[in-house]
Amino acid sequence: MSDLEDARCRLAGLREQINFHAHRYYVLDDPAISDGEYDRLFQELLTLEEEHPSLVTADSPSQRVGAEPLAVFNTVEHRLPMLSLENAFSDDDLVAFQDRLYRFLNSPEPISYVAEPKLDGLAVELVYVKGILSTGSTRGDGWTGEDITANIKTIPAIPLRLNLDEPPGILEIRGEVFISKAGFRKLNDQRAQDGENLFANPRNAAAGSLRQLDSRITAKRPLDIFVYGISDPDGLKCKSQTEVLEFLARCGFKVNPLARSCRHLDEVLAHFHHLRGIRHDLPYEIDGMVVKVDSVQLQQRLGTKARSPRWAIACKFQAVQATTTLLDVEFQVGRTGAITPVAILEPVNVGGVTVSRATLHNEDEIRRKDLKKNDRVLVQRAGDVIPEVVAPIKDARTGNESAIVMPEKCPACETQLTRREGEVALRCENLQCPAQKLRALAHFAGKSGLDIEGFGMRSMEQLFEAGLVTDLPGLYRLTEADLAALPGWGEKSATNARAALEKSKTPVLSRFIAALGIRYVGEVTAQLLEDHFRSLEKIIHLTEEELSEVEGIGPQVSSSLIEFFHNERILAMLSSLQSLGVSVQSREESVSGKPLSGRVFLFTGTLGSFSRSEAKARVKSLGGQVASALSRKVTDVVCGEKPGSKLSKARDLGLAILSEDDFKMVINRS
Ligand code: IVH
Repeated sequence: MSDLEDARCRLAGLREQINFHAHRYYVLDDPAISDGEYDRLFQELLTLEEEHPSLVTADSPSQRVGAEPLAVFNTVEHRLPMLSLENAFSDDDLVAFQDRLYRFLNSPEPISYVAEPKLDGLAVELVYVKGILSTGSTRGDGWTGEDITANIKTIPAIPLRLNLDEPPGILEIRGEVFISKAGFRKLNDQRAQDGENLFANPRNAAAGSLRQLDSRITAKRPLDIFVYGISDPDGLKCKSQTEVLEFLARCGFKVNPLARSCRHLDEVLAHFHHLRGIRHDLPYEIDGMVVKVDSVQLQQRLGTKARSPRWAIACKFQAVQATTTLLDVEFQVGRTGAITPVAILEPVNVGGVTVSRATLHNEDEIRRKDLKKNDRVLVQRAGDVIPEVVAPIKDARTGNESAIVMPEKCPACETQLTRREGEVALRCENLQCPAQKLRALAHFAGKSGLDIEGFGMRSMEQLFEAGLVTDLPGLYRLTEADLAALPGWGEKSATNARAALEKSKTPVLSRFIAALGIRYVGEVTAQLLEDHFRSLEKIIHLTEEELSEVEGIGPQVSSSLIEFFHNERILAMLSSLQSLGVSVQSREESVSGKPLSGRVFLFTGTLGSFSRSEAKARVKSLGGQVASALSRKVTDVVCGEKPGSKLSKARDLGLAILSEDDFKMVINRS
């Protein structure tokens, strides 16, 4: 045998041994050899690969030590979106969740669940091609994430090769990367010794480590993972979430041992109370429990809403609270002119995060809670929600407290504030108000907008105050030199920020609409608009009538949209953006290829074997649209028991009328 053949053979043996022992150590927590022996095997592998670079493979354990630093992360499209979850905050919310399931499915058949700890880390997707790890990515906005493959490979609990004899062509796995409580303490101790900034909590430490451009640094961080799902369980013939978890464990992943199959909601509630009791004794942080309908078939029937599946919910633990002093109140002008009182607090640690500001919502809330300046107050933080002041501690009053007085004029532009009828917020109605402009710009570039890296609130304030950016086109006219000249910015951050701006020039339609900050138009409405109209051009020219045909868009939203897109200034701004190279993309999955595309359904009467919601969801998932009223656009009228007046009107119009059985044929054939 040649030298090369010898080496190839030895390397294969070493890799198998190392993988076996790494799995025992990192996944099963049950090592079979000493650390010293393991290190010797690993060293031999590294030496041999160095001598024979042509024999290095993508799944070799040597790939875990990190690679050359990257300049930026590339983006990765998730084949299927990574959704988020709706929250439940009480047992009652869970009961309501189950009620919704029964109503949607329109059947009394018992539903069983899987209840899993909700890990407090970062969601990732791992893609395996023929059993070999090919890509690891962050969740990002749900559709597009960052390519963090080099960092993912450094996590020892993630297999580089699946432990399957016949791996599927493509396997997309989802899980949560985290750092244990002990790992976090050790990491921070080390950072304190080295004089580096400390991480506020394990989640931030995990986020910072996972988004390192230098994967050699990531390799030194104690990152760990639990996986909890595959993007297409049906494709793998898994009939239930229970089977999915079993399959993942067989593949060689770490699956959380506290996941429970529950036959009834009672068992789900009991498990929630159990987890709440032991959460502080667990070696890692959890912020709640995720409940999933076990049956994959039911999951598919239930489907998803705009951002979250109907078949799962996150039960959050009660918020963490602390007491501190309310030092002062600031009045913030929002992007639509609403004035929000913000409490300035003596900084206090609330469950691992330092809180120095908290929202007071509005004047009515301040009065209802009877808050005063200098009060000792209870503050709370629940998950990602903005901290809030819950109540004053009245017994601690000394007489030094003073009333909180709402301003009469806008703190930014001095315009007299107004309170519209039926609204709780005070408002600055000056459309040229600098504070509103700044907020609108920050919203556009921020997390709920295009999420342009380097353009957070602080940078926007700086750019706005320097007069460099006063409107959206101004943002795209920024040069690297403009940015580099700003105090606190260097060449590198200027280059990165400019690159981020370039990258943001091809936003997805719904994101772009949401980023514009049109009143009453959030992500959900923006998604509805994209689904129905698919181009910015169309949306700009919509009429009240066309909008009224979209289910889910009411008169308030509709008139707000019309007003926005009839404003000359807005139109001029949009065309400047276009000439600066901003080109809005309609998301693929073009409905045109789908079986019901072009058809508009109207329902009347009660269906026997589906709820109205399920019927509508089925039409939408097959590319059809659902109308709420009769119009020229309607192509199919589905008529159940006890139809309303729509039926006779539809007959008058000569429309096709489907019975429930006809409808079933249409959707099953499609
Ligand atoms: S399932 C469609 N299971 O919670 C189902 N998520 O708000 C989506 N998370 O982004 C996720 N532990 O980062 C699921 N056992 C678990 C989880 C879990 C933590 C996170 C995940 C997700 C977020 C949803």
